[in-house]
Parts: sequence; C-alpha cells; structure tokens
Amino acid sequence: MDQVRIGVIGTGGIGATQVKNILQLPNCRLTAVCDWKKDKMEPPYIPSDVNVKKFTDDDDFFAYGEFDAVMLEIPHYQHVPLALRCLEEGKHVLIEKPVAVDKKTALQLLAAAKKYPDLRMGVMFNQRTIPAHKKLKELIESGEFGVIRRVNWIMTDWFRTQRYYDSGDWRATWRGEGGGVLINQCPHHLDLMQWLFGMPKRVTAVVALGKYHDIEVEDDVTAILEYPNGATGVFIASTGEAPGTNRLEVTAERGRVILENGKLSFLRNEIPMSEFCKTTQVTWSTPPVWDIDIPVAANNPRQLIDVIDAFANSILHGTPMVAEAVEGINSLEIGNAILLSGLKKKFVDLPLDENEFSEMLAELVASSKWEKSAHGENNDFDFEKSQPK
Ligand SMILES: NC(=O)c1ccc[n+]([C@@H]2O[C@H](COP(=O)([O-])OP(=O)(O)OC[C@H]3O[C@@H](n4cnc5c(N)ncnc54)[C@H](O)[C@@H]3O)[C@@H](O)[C@H]2O)c1
Repeated sequence: MDQVRIGVIGTGGIGATQVKNILQLPNCRLTAVCDWKKDKMEPPYIPSDVNVKKFTDDDDFFAYGEFDAVMLEIPHYQHVPLALRCLEEGKHVLIEKPVAVDKKTALQLLAAAKKYPDLRMGVMFNQRTIPAHKKLKELIESGEFGVIRRVNWIMTDWFRTQRYYDSGDWRATWRGEGGGVLINQCPHHLDLMQWLFGMPKRVTAVVALGKYHDIEVEDDVTAILEYPNGATGVFIASTGEAPGTNRLEVTAERGRVILENGKLSFLRNEIPMSEFCKTTQVTWSTPPVWDIDIPVAANNPRQLIDVIDAFANSILHGTPMVAEAVEGINSLEIGNAILLSGLKKKFVDLPLDENEFSEMLAELVASSKWEKSAHGENNDFDFEKSQPK
C-alpha cells in the first residue's frame, strides 16, 4: 500500500479545508465524504472537479467503507461516538481537536481503543508543527534553559465576533459545544503547555461566561497552574480582546525566553539565577546576560497538511504521528480543571476527578436556557484568519 484511502466526515468550516489538504498529499487518496448538509459537499466546500463518493448519512458512508482511515471534522460531542464507530469498522481515525468534551468520555474512548492495537488514532494538534514551538521543545528537553521556574502564556489573540458565535447551530452552547474558549480555541495552547512544560498538579482559575459576547459559555479565562517541582504558570485566554496578545514567557534558571510575534528571544544568564543569587558578593546586582535571538520560521503554512501527512505515514510506515489521541487527554484535563475551578470557585487538584467535572457539565447542559438566534451559517471559514499570530 503506498496511499491511505481517506474518508472525511463533516465538510463544513475546517472539513472543507482538510479536503483540499488531503488532495495535496501524495500518500493520501480521498475516496469518500459525508456531511448531513448536502450543500457542504458542493463548491465552494468541495471543488466540482473532485471525484469522490458523497454521503449525507453516516451509516451509508460506513456501509460504503472504501477507505482505510477517517478524518472527523465535526462538532465536539460527536468526536468520541464517531471515533468509536471508526474503530469498530476497522478504520484508522484522525480526530479534530478536542479529542472529547470531558475527560471521562475521553477515557472511555481510550479504554475502548486498546481493543484495536493495529488501528492508529490521532488528534489534530497542528500547532505542534509550528517551528518556534518545535524549537522551544527541543531547547527545553536539551536542558538549555535549566530548571523552569515560571511560565506565562497570554493567549488572547483568538478574537471572535458575535457573528462567528451566531454561525452554526452548535457553537457557544453547553448543549452543542460543551464550552467556549477552553474547548474550542485553546485546546491547541493547553496542549502546547503540557507538551512543553508537563502537567500541573493544581489549578485555580477565574472564568467568565459570556463576558464579551451574547453566549452562555466562557469567553474569558485567567488560570494559575502549579507544577510538581514548585514552578508556577499563568494561562490567560480570551476571545473578546482586540488587539489580542499571543505571548509566552518562560523564566528558567538559565534566563528568560519570550515567544511573541513568531520570534523566539532568549536573555541568557551567564550564571544560573539561583546560583548567582546565593554566591554573588555584590548586594545590588543581577546575573550578566547574553541577548540571543533564536532563529526560527515564524509560522508553518502547512501545519494542517503536516499532521495529515504524518498520520498517513504512521499507517503506511509505522512512523510517529504529530499527536496520538491518547495525548489529547492532557489538554482536556487542564481545560476541564480550569473550568471546574472557575465555576466552582475552588482549587482543583490533578489528576482531575473526571466524574466531578462531568457532573458539573451535565448540570450546565441541563440548565442551558440558550436559544440560538438564527443568523445563518458559517459559510466564510478561513483557516489563516482563524489562527492567532
Ligand atoms: N485544527 C484547527 O485549527 C481547527 C479549526 C477550526 C475548527 N476545528 C475543529 O473542527 C471541528 C469542526 O468545526 P467546524 O468549525 O468546521 O464546524 P462546522 O459546523 O463549520 O462544520 C461541521 C460540519 O459537520 C457536519 N456534521 C456534523 N455532524 C455530522 C455527522 N455526524 N455526519 C456528517 N456530517 C456531520 C455539519 O453539517 C457541518 O457541515 C470542531 O471540533 C472544531 O473545534 C479545528
């Protein structure tokens, strides 16, 4: 086999983009698409010259079955049931982020997946392929920065308009989406936080529901993260601030690293800060520093394509994916913990009690008073414009 035959479920906003991405990859062949809405499988979503089987019913799609792998490009609550269906049908599966809405359901998927060791299951964490993120990981793992003491990520460059929230019938509702900025936009950065810095042991957060938008879910979050080695972190996210900020600051023994505007800059302490603090004989002094710009490409315009490419190669050649689905549980756990902490106004220890979170979510879903005002559909999705700088 030199090509993976791929079927796509959901060809709306991101799904239509992914269809075009698959068509660019020599190791993939698009064989089938499925969307409940027939018009989502017509131009501009799927170009007219694309020869592919089209279905409006998932059962018919799976009955056709002429694909080795499925990409799920659908709203969040359907990720787990349809990923399970793919495995049961003997198909590899690449799930859009988030892997699930809550940790409990994700655990159920991962437990079931153990029955299918020959099937690959990945999650679309495309931001891991951005050169600055990769470089940062490489430098952290090499020990270049020494012990990390503090991380601050201000991630407010996810501005979303009311028009965006009014599009689609599932967005920004507990019942349809399962949350707001933490479950839709921030899985990427929560994943990067755990990928780069590991899992915190405790979370405290202030979470605002519908602060900037006429929505029932959270659109503004400030969280404090405590790590097992005593390091602390602050994670700030919002879809209401403009102009937004995307700034990661890492304070480590060997200096301070800042990632902003695609630039990675490092003020490197000649002497690690704690050692200097304990040994210097000069009362008013700080360690001498070198000012270093770490050369990296600002972005990766092929980030989605790279994830699909690695997924296909993992099926064809057994090489690593960008992110296994099992890794998706970590960002979910942090996001769930932040929401639980913010809404219940308390410290939340990790590992998160998945039942406590799921019970809270069930209450939010049950008490949801939200009625969508029908302002039409999301017909103008633009991946580039949807991404932070
Ligand atoms: N990786 C990224 O950067 C990125 C960017 C945008 C969206 N997403 C994720 O992609 C997913 C989809 O988001 P979107 O904005 O494209 O949503 P969307 O509403 O624009 O599109 C979803 C499509 O799925 C179809 N659909 C839903 N359930 C279906 C089913 N069971 N069978 C067939 N068709 C079905 C709908 O008709 C719709 O056309 C979400 O998980 C979202 O978080 C990821």
